Amino acid sequence: MDDLSDMKLSRRDLLKSGAAAATAAAIPTAAGAQALAGAPVPANPPPASATTTLRVNGQRRELTLDTRTTLLDALRENLKLTGTKKGCDQGQCGACTVIVNGRRINSCLSLAIMHDGDEVTTIEGFGTPGKLHPMQAAFVKHDGYQCGYCTPGQICSAVAVIEEIRAGIPSHVSGDLNVKPLMSVDEIRERMSGNICRCGAYSNILDAITEVAGVPGALAARQEGKA
Ligand code: FES
Ligand code: FES
Repeated sequence: MDDLSDMKLSRRDLLKSGAAAATAAAIPTAAGAQALAGAPVPANPPPASATTTLRVNGQRRELTLDTRTTLLDALRENLKLTGTKKGCDQGQCGACTVIVNGRRINSCLSLAIMHDGDEVTTIEGFGTPGKLHPMQAAFVKHDGYQCGYCTPGQICSAVAVIEEIRAGIPSHVSGDLNVKPLMSVDEIRERMSGNICRCGAYSNILDAITEVAGVPGALAARQEGKA
């Protein structure tokens, strides 16, 4: 047998012994299988739940929820207040905007149980078809929507924006926290920038808000090509 034959035989032997070793490793021993069969299977712990009480549109609502439930889902799924919309579900579109203790928030980014005792206002709390809130009436008057999906969030945000500016609350968008805000078209536009409208009804939305805010000349300036 020459050197080359020796080498081939050696390689074959090596492959055989490798396969045998791999098979042995893959098959558990009798003792190991018994241990696996007898081992207690860890049970999935039930999701934690908690009871929380909200005041929603002036009504006390007590809810027992999975602690992971967002405020948006609690409103829509548990309280059936489906006026608040779910767009991105990650804080990017503003469709889920509601007002909590006077401040607007993205309800998709907040857990319901964090709002125990809080005052929550949704679009259902603003007006009725027969008696619209002034902001709702202005949106209708100025055609501030097309499909309407973003509209509840736009209206909640718009109402809160006017209150923010009147209260002198600085805009975190501009970054200048020392300048008292002025009620202006630019200020309103900037503060509404977190509410996306895929239909692009922005100019009509701005007309509605500026009318309610009493900012003169927004519509006229645009018609003259100045805004
Ligand atoms: Fe909350 Fe888009 S659904 S920001
Ligand atoms: Fe359709 Fe705004 S009206 S997304």
